[in-house]
Amino acid sequence: MAISLHTKLCDMLDIEYPVMAFNHCRDVVAAVGNAGGCGVLGALALPPEQIAIEANWIKEHSDKPFGIDLVFPSAAPEMITHEQLMAMIPQGYKDFMDKFKAPLGLPEQIWGGAGMDVFLELGIGGSYESQLKQLDAALETKPAIIAAALGFNREIVDRCHSAGAKCATLVGNVKNAKRAAEAGVDIIVAQGTEAGGHTGRIGTLALVPQVVDAVSPTPVLAAGGIADGRGLVAALALGAVGVWTGTIWLTAHESPLVDFLKDRVIEATDEDAVISKIYTGKTARVLNCKYIERWQQPDAPATLPMPLQNLYSPMPLFLSTEDSYSASLFDKPGLQEYATSAAGNAAGLIKQRKSVRKIMEDMMTEAVEILGAE
Ligand SMILES: Cc1cc2nc3c(=O)[nH]c(=O)nc-3n(C[C@H](O)[C@H](O)[C@H](O)COP(=O)(O)O)c2cc1C
Repeated sequence: MAISLHTKLCDMLDIEYPVMAFNHCRDVVAAVGNAGGCGVLGALALPPEQIAIEANWIKEHSDKPFGIDLVFPSAAPEMITHEQLMAMIPQGYKDFMDKFKAPLGLPEQIWGGAGMDVFLELGIGGSYESQLKQLDAALETKPAIIAAALGFNREIVDRCHSAGAKCATLVGNVKNAKRAAEAGVDIIVAQGTEAGGHTGRIGTLALVPQVVDAVSPTPVLAAGGIADGRGLVAALALGAVGVWTGTIWLTAHESPLVDFLKDRVIEATDEDAVISKIYTGKTARVLNCKYIERWQQPDAPATLPMPLQNLYSPMPLFLSTEDSYSASLFDKPGLQEYATSAAGNAAGLIKQRKSVRKIMEDMMTEAVEILGAE
């Protein structure tokens, strides 16, 4: 059977290329839409008003479909305060972190400060109520798609559908893929362990066809390790209707990732993106750095479950030029070695900075060449 670059995903979302792009920055999301794919804004840490501002900005700069990525209730602590969460952190953990931070001049925390907006006060994920408020704010802006790595249920799927949005969820195994399909999710993203950010244990090559078989006829996207036309064609050959990408956009000109981390992504080899629980309490793939090495020393405590692990930590997973406070903390040569970015094994494939449009064009040109087709 011939492989076509115009897939069911293109029809579902009314886009030219079967490429979805996760990014925290509205500029990248709008640029991906304008280049023929579908950008998805990472918004789990944004208060509802900010989600509206970012989404409206995207709509002013692109008339193409876009998505918003959140996280949903099953992952959320209910009726818990910042103080209660902080009290759950063992003293030995705090002592270890204090000993690490003090000589480097790092503050107590960046995330989770008492009195901060609830979305930061409770760490990643917020509360049940706050997540539904985020969802409503997102749906108001009429995105083509609402995505989430955690927590879709039938009620949320119905809410999205009533507002005219499709749902996509990221899964790392067949069990969760089936659960999502049963909840009525429209697109399943089978994300292999190669992926940047939170990730599972199964490689993309083995995972995608198993998820395709398990949830058919629900369409599946392949994610994890895809950074060029070869990856796109391979994903289609595995039965996916397109790709869901993250790492490849980190070094785009439009991406606000700080310069020294863009360089680190470009210099990365196949072995430099490693899995660690020290950022969020869940396994996440990030570029190796001195902070990770510190946690590998014998005196390091056990990591804590989400959201506790990053409530007492000043170490962000994405240093953005748009977050001048966090970016300036690491704007010192000695400290930069402790900073990192979430990034996948595909970092080893990224050799130069390009515009979003050029990244997309290169991927499509290569895919067309491989297929010998239009
Ligand atoms: C810097 C970074 C941050 C990420 N944050 C999220 C997130 O907040 N929510 C989410 O659903 N996925 C997140 N992801 C995962 C992406 O959505 C995507 O599944 C992954 O990057 C695909 O694999 P790749 O990095 O090999 O392209 C993140 C990825 C990166 C690189």
